[in-house]
Amino acid sequence: MAATELDVLFSQQQIQKRVCELGAQLAHDFRGQPVVLLGVLKGACIFLSDLARTIPLDCSFDFLAVSSYGNRVQSTGEVRLLKDADCAMEDGNIVLVEDILDTGLTLAYLKELIQARRPRALKIAALLDKPSRRVKPISADYVGFTIGDEFVVGYGMDHAERFRNLPDICVLRDAEGAK
Ligand code: IMP
Ligand code: MG
Repeated sequence: MAATELDVLFSQQQIQKRVCELGAQLAHDFRGQPVVLLGVLKGACIFLSDLARTIPLDCSFDFLAVSSYGNRVQSTGEVRLLKDADCAMEDGNIVLVEDILDTGLTLAYLKELIQARRPRALKIAALLDKPSRRVKPISADYVGFTIGDEFVVGYGMDHAERFRNLPDICVLRDAEGAK
């Protein structure tokens, strides 16, 4: 692997502040109702666990997994469900929690899958949004930060399974294929 350089894009403090704001918005929108936070493994797990603690609602967790980029920086364009959710979604308030909305292929696929199960509400919370990379016309209801066409790691996000445990969100430079 080529030498890597990590530059902090959002610090722990900036992330915590923004996650609290998103939680307050969610709590307001779903006030008085139970919600299911449905995390997309593995990247969203740290965002979900922080977000959940800012939401004073009746809240349960569930997770699903889709095929990832593997060890490459570029998407293959193909999405496969590797693990389905366990919960019954009919009439539920589902908040799909994802780390990054990039091309939109993953969330477009998951949105269609979940809609077919007739939830009462389906909202999307994405910690990061890269609108310049969008292939599918999809947007998130709750977005932490909008960023450019940069490859980021940390706070749950990886490159070849590394860097998920970094407390900050960092831009990864000099990775194979990265800008
Ligand atoms: P999409 O289907 O292209 O929107 O890709 C979404 C998924 O790609 C995210 O859930 C991430 O797992 C991964 N991804 C996209 N951009 C990055 C990045 O900059 N760093 C790490 N993972 C990324
Ligand atoms: Mg992901």
